[in-house]
Amino acid sequence: MIHLKLYDPKPEQTRALGSYMEAHSHLLEQIQAGEDGYKDVLGWLHVSTWAGEAVLSQVEALAEKIRKDADAFVLIGVGGSNNTARSVIEALGTDGPEIIYAGNTLSPRALSQVMDAVKGKKIWINCIAKNFETLEPGSSFRILRKYMYEAYGSTEAAQRIIATGTRGSLLEGLCHEHGYTFLGFPEDVGGRYSGITSVGLLPMAVAGINIRKLVQGAMDMERSLLFASAGENVAFEYACIRNMLYKQGYALEMLASFEPAFRWFYKWWIQLFAETEGKEGKGLFPVTGEYSEELHAVGQFVQEGTPLMFETFLDVKTPVGTLVIENDGIKDAFDYLDGMDFQTVNRIAFEATVKAHSRRLPCLILTLDRLDEYCFGEMFYFFMFACCISARLLGVNPFDQPGVEAYKEQMFEGLGKQV
Ligand code: PA5
Repeated sequence: MIHLKLYDPKPEQTRALGSYMEAHSHLLEQIQAGEDGYKDVLGWLHVSTWAGEAVLSQVEALAEKIRKDADAFVLIGVGGSNNTARSVIEALGTDGPEIIYAGNTLSPRALSQVMDAVKGKKIWINCIAKNFETLEPGSSFRILRKYMYEAYGSTEAAQRIIATGTRGSLLEGLCHEHGYTFLGFPEDVGGRYSGITSVGLLPMAVAGINIRKLVQGAMDMERSLLFASAGENVAFEYACIRNMLYKQGYALEMLASFEPAFRWFYKWWIQLFAETEGKEGKGLFPVTGEYSEELHAVGQFVQEGTPLMFETFLDVKTPVGTLVIENDGIKDAFDYLDGMDFQTVNRIAFEATVKAHSRRLPCLILTLDRLDEYCFGEMFYFFMFACCISARLLGVNPFDQPGVEAYKEQMFEGLGKQV
């Protein structure tokens, strides 16, 4: 379960939240019923549609084959096409082939580093692109494909290339023409909502992530959010709190945690909320705080700078590890730590930060049970559901991203692309 708490709320805040939730409960009910207006993009709402037994078995079988052969697996994708897998893999680690990321940059330096990293290794590549017009994955796929053909010859290269795209797309056509393995990118799921489909599940399974546990977490969260009424719905409550705070003038939400394992999860969260809500001159700007390190940086601003933001802390209930600080006999003025576990030290730092920051800004605490696959599944579903409701409360379409076209038009013109 995920627990949500507004830290030290004033009685009038609690009352106002209750009224706000009641007044907007129809929006929750609309999403729960699979809102007609968005039917063609709500494929993620029922996890089993795109992560049922057939998909899981197919993904696991392919991942097993890759794990037996590969030294490294190159995930080519950007934004919604790579963020979910990367966030879990970087947090929980890999016991399989090295995972190399491409398709998310146009920097020749970064891409040369990718090309250096694949040399001399047994490689498989997976190009993931719903709209196979995006420049970063399309151009990375080109250079990696060329490398594969040179390294393996066309027959073996084709066996090592997987492409995940929509049915009927150019990418599917390339797979049929050249013999690559094709995986379907669900048509009714947008990029940033696609993590719990073969898009995110294959790279995770290759890395050794237990995708069944992750899918179970997402399904359990689905069951609780799709059936809970407004007063008992934790995602709805989170969406309502952030919208109330937005209306009170807060412009930013900072997701913060004392667990650095969330570093790549932050990217997933930022993309989900920024692309979903930032439109029509509205939306909370999502930022993140990697504590305790960034208490020595943005911590100053949070405590005393322009009061722009509220903070949402991600807390993990079950200890993530243990490491006792022993006295080594050297007088270094840290004796007050003798015999303490870093778990305790980190927790005390967390509690102290919430106390200090909440004097100045609203603080929410989202508590997860553990740092594992199951809880990542819960979190992905929780935030997607909450984000969707939050956008509806804001009055914007949760599923489009028209703003990203503006720079693309200019860029394609500069690159001489015929449109
Ligand atoms: O959420 C989205 O739809 C976007 O962020 C896409 O995932 C991102 O732009 C990559 O798109 P594509 O995989 O179609 O190239």
